[in-house]
Amino acid sequence: MRFHLKCLSLLAGAAALMAALPGQALAADPIVIKFSHVVAPNTPKGKGAEFFKKLAEERTKGAVKVEVYPNSQLYKDKEEMEMLQLGAVQMLAPSLAKFGPLGVKEFEVFDLPYILPSKEALRSVTEGPVGQGLLKKLEGKGIIGLGYWDNGFKVMSANKPLKSPADFKGQKMRIQSSKVLEAEMKALGALPQVMAFSEVYQALQTGVVDGTENPPSNMFTQKMHEVQKHATLSNHGYLGYAVIVNKKFWEGLPADIRAILEGAMNEATRYANAIAETENAEALAAMKASGKTEFYELSAAEKDAWRKALLPVHQEMEARVGKDLLKAFYAEGEKASATAAAPAKKVK
Ligand code: LMR
Repeated sequence: MRFHLKCLSLLAGAAALMAALPGQALAADPIVIKFSHVVAPNTPKGKGAEFFKKLAEERTKGAVKVEVYPNSQLYKDKEEMEMLQLGAVQMLAPSLAKFGPLGVKEFEVFDLPYILPSKEALRSVTEGPVGQGLLKKLEGKGIIGLGYWDNGFKVMSANKPLKSPADFKGQKMRIQSSKVLEAEMKALGALPQVMAFSEVYQALQTGVVDGTENPPSNMFTQKMHEVQKHATLSNHGYLGYAVIVNKKFWEGLPADIRAILEGAMNEATRYANAIAETENAEALAAMKASGKTEFYELSAAEKDAWRKALLPVHQEMEARVGKDLLKAFYAEGEKASATAAAPAKKVK
């Protein structure tokens, strides 16, 4: 009995000591960053997330642990945004087409058909004041934007050839939750249907929708090519991501840790953007080799017909994305084209 009492008082003493020294008691616990995303690990975003994890854990010597949850394992598209705001996860990299439901619809400017004429134009937007200004808009939602990651340009797929806008008539096309994408599909005469990414394969397989649009890396890693007979290499629109974190969490990090993580994120951004094009080219080659989907290149006349059908979406959506923002995108495009066209200076 006496022994029992002694044990109890020792335990109570230990508990009191831990309560008095919370910092010390927790010092051994790593800071956990749950990074949730909806695509496969072997995609530009999936690999970027893993690379960030590696750098963050190595450079903080284990003080930070990054848990990457791919393939909508934790949450689907809309849920993950809500869970980030609630702090149930700390980091995401949603497609730029998915910020409308959050109330930051300006990101949908990236969804406008043919809005970015070149990679140079894209970079000057994402790395310059226009892109940074967009990220700032997230702060009012309790979110901080850390950077932009590429995926690539989208192909259109269905179970029938999509060579001219007329081929889209009446086709049910899955889209992400963007009003600009809705307008795009309607301009083609299709019937857009918003659906979470994780549900697309089954919807295509069962005929709930007829087709969709995505870059090759997503199409291949979700096996959509197994349930789509035709695809057009239309490059009509861009798919990229904003890497975002819960603001309260990020600002609550010790300053030295945050600085290390910012450095790791900058490197992961460069890495993800460097591999995206190759990842997509390889995915396309693998799908072509599988023989399941027939890929079609548009002729010059067909490209013109697509542009003619799709370009009016810019004006239609001008009020939604903001006239000034649209103008800023055009200006970046023109600047990039002028730089590309300028004759190289003669070296004497
Ligand atoms: C989609 O839903 O089609 C894409 O946004 C998925 C992704 O994150 O690449």
